[in-house]
Order: sequence, then C-alpha cells, then structure tokens
Amino acid sequence: MITGTGLTKVYGTKRAVDDVDFTVEAGELFVLMGLSGSGKSTLLRMINRLVEPTSGTVTIDGVDLAGLGAAELRELRNRRVNMVFQHFALFPHRTVRQNAAYGLEVRRVPLAERLDRADRALERVGLGDRGDARPQELSGGQRQRVGLARALATDPDVLLMDEPFSALDPLIRRDMQDLLLDLQADRPRTIVFVTHDLNEAMRIGSRIMVLKDGRVQQCGTGPEILAAPANDYVGEFVADVDRARVLTASAVMRPAPSTAVLSTAPADVLGSDVFVLDADDKLLGLVGSADVAAALDAGEPDLSARVADGYHVVPPDRPLVEFAHLAVSAPLVVVDDGRLVGVVSDRDLLTALGGVRA
Ligand SMILES: Nc1ncnc2c1ncn2[C@@H]1O[C@H](COP(=O)(O)OP(=O)(O)O)[C@@H](O)[C@H]1O
Ligand SMILES: [Mg+2]
Repeated sequence: MITGTGLTKVYGTKRAVDDVDFTVEAGELFVLMGLSGSGKSTLLRMINRLVEPTSGTVTIDGVDLAGLGAAELRELRNRRVNMVFQHFALFPHRTVRQNAAYGLEVRRVPLAERLDRADRALERVGLGDRGDARPQELSGGQRQRVGLARALATDPDVLLMDEPFSALDPLIRRDMQDLLLDLQADRPRTIVFVTHDLNEAMRIGSRIMVLKDGRVQQCGTGPEILAAPANDYVGEFVADVDRARVLTASAVMRPAPSTAVLSTAPADVLGSDVFVLDADDKLLGLVGSADVAAALDAGEPDLSARVADGYHVVPPDRPLVEFAHLAVSAPLVVVDDGRLVGVVSDRDLLTALGGVRA
C-alpha cells in the first residue's frame, strides 16, 4: 500500500534519513523504531510530504506522491492519510464531540453528519459518554483518545502516528496500546506508528523497522528481530525486551523430532517419543519411548494401542509468558487447527527467555 524507495532527507550536512527502502502492506501496523534523532519523524512526514524528500520516492496505492499538485496533496492529507501526534491540539473552548469532529469540519462535512460520526468515533475509543465535556475535564489519556477519535472519525486509509502515547503514564499507555490493537482487530487500517520504545513496538507492531542515524538497521516481525538481531546495535537494543511477552510458541518451536502414523511398526521408531498423526497430519497423540519399547516387547504390530495424550497443546501465537510454566509437567506441543506444527523443549524455552544467541 505504501512504498518508500531510496528515501533521503538532508538538512545542511546532516542526513536525517539516508537511503531508506520500505513497504507497508494494507492493514498493517508498521512501526518505525529508533532513538531520538534517528530520523523517525522525518521519515514519517515524508509519507504525506509534510517533509519534501531530498531524493527518493514515496508511493501510496501505486501513485507517486511527487507527481501530486498542491490541491491533490491537500486532498490526500485531508481524506486519505491522517496524522496523529504526541500532543494533540484540542480546542479548549469546544466540547469533546466538536473536537472529535474537527477533521470532518475541515472537509466541510455537514454538521449533523460530522457530529454523528464524531459520536461513533468517541464510542469506539471508550468516550461515548464524554461528548459534552470540555478537554480540560479529561485526563491526559482521555485527551489522547479524543485525538485518536478525531483521526478515526475521518475514516482515513492510512494513519500516521508520531509517538502518540509517549507522553502517557505506563498503565494508561498500555490501555491505549490495547485500544489500538482492538481497533485493528475490529477493522484493520494501514498504520505507520513511530515510537522510541521497543517494548511498545514489539507489543503492537506487525513489523518493526529499526532506524539508527537515518539508516535502516533491520526490518521484520518482533520475534524475528528478537530471535536474530541483524547487528550488534539491534542486539543491544533488544537485550532489555520482555521476551516472555513478545516471543510466541511459533517463534521458539522446532519441528517434532519423530512422527509416525497408527500403522507404524514399533521397531521402526524405537528409541524416541513419537507423535502419531493421521493422514491429514492431524495430531492423534503421543507414544512415549518407553511405550514404543513396551509395544515391541508385547509383539504389537503397530502403535495404535499405545497412543496417549500426555502433553500440553499450545497454539502458535501464544506468548511464552502464558505457557512456559506448563513445561515442567509435560511436553509442549504446538498445534494449529489440529495439525502438529512443532514442539517446544525446555531448552528452547531457556534459550529464548535468557536471550542466549542460538
Ligand atoms: N527541520 C529540520 N531542520 C534541521 N534538522 C532537522 C530538522 N528536522 C529534523 N532534523 C534533524 O534530523 C535528525 C532526525 O530528526 P527526527 O526525524 O526528528 O528524529 P526522531 O523523530 O527519530 O527523533 C535529527 O538530527 C534532527 O536534529
Ligand atoms: Mg520524532
């Protein structure tokens, strides 16, 4: 949906953004992450040409922004690409509803319609009952919600968010992250979200692009970056991340060492635990190595009498924090839609949680 190619912005002798390439898919929450001064805001603002690139191109839905005239650009910013900032400028003498309707007012949407859309947007951010309040009657977190409602009310194709939660207390910040994730689950929008907080990036980003001195260090999903930092800089950055919350079963699992079908002869799989699958790869159960040996001793022709369920089933997207403790009582088996996709060993867990490089 959005592409940047060779994007560069030079201020004097400073390359604020230096030859950056990226692609943002429709419906993705794409995070630009880096320390202060790494070029995040400059890059974000080149996406709607609030900052004019020194070189390189941006396209939205295949249209090169460089080719847009002033009127088309205004149209783009008004209707398609909305920006949300760290500090929303709410009008103090207007009600919350009027503030939420502001983006529609700019577009000359009729009054009744814009108030109605503002109310619905306020509803979605949990402020349905505060429409008549004034901004100063709201907490900081609620004011950020009004700003988000203002952006949502215009129903943009793309949201550009520049550290929208950075000024909030940690707990309220988490609420806002949850709200954003809920809104995305409900109706995915294409969002480019800037943060200097890697935990925030990992928590909400479908993919994260790590910037340093205007250059891309790495781009990938949170678990990909955690599992394989591209360089020492990214490695140091991710050292402090709350791995148990970021890493999911699929990020730490490995293929099941040994699988079989019900008709497999015990002699063929002697010596290991065996996962028994049906013809569609659905997991039927586990035969422990001792049971394989017992079946062989008893002269059983196959494994069918020995299939048991002494394991924990974990879905691929479950974070470690929610299942790691189960590993002490039984093996962890990652199952997606009935299919065995992998296993998680104690060693895999320790390696992942300890941040030990494989
Ligand atoms: N308008 C400007 N004029 C001169 N230098 C700028 C301007 N905007 C940003 N810079 C410089 O470009 C670099 C990147 O800034 P910025 O994109 O704001 O980074 P971030 O958002 O990651 O903190 C910084 O060194 C900053 O000082
Ligand atoms: Mg910035």
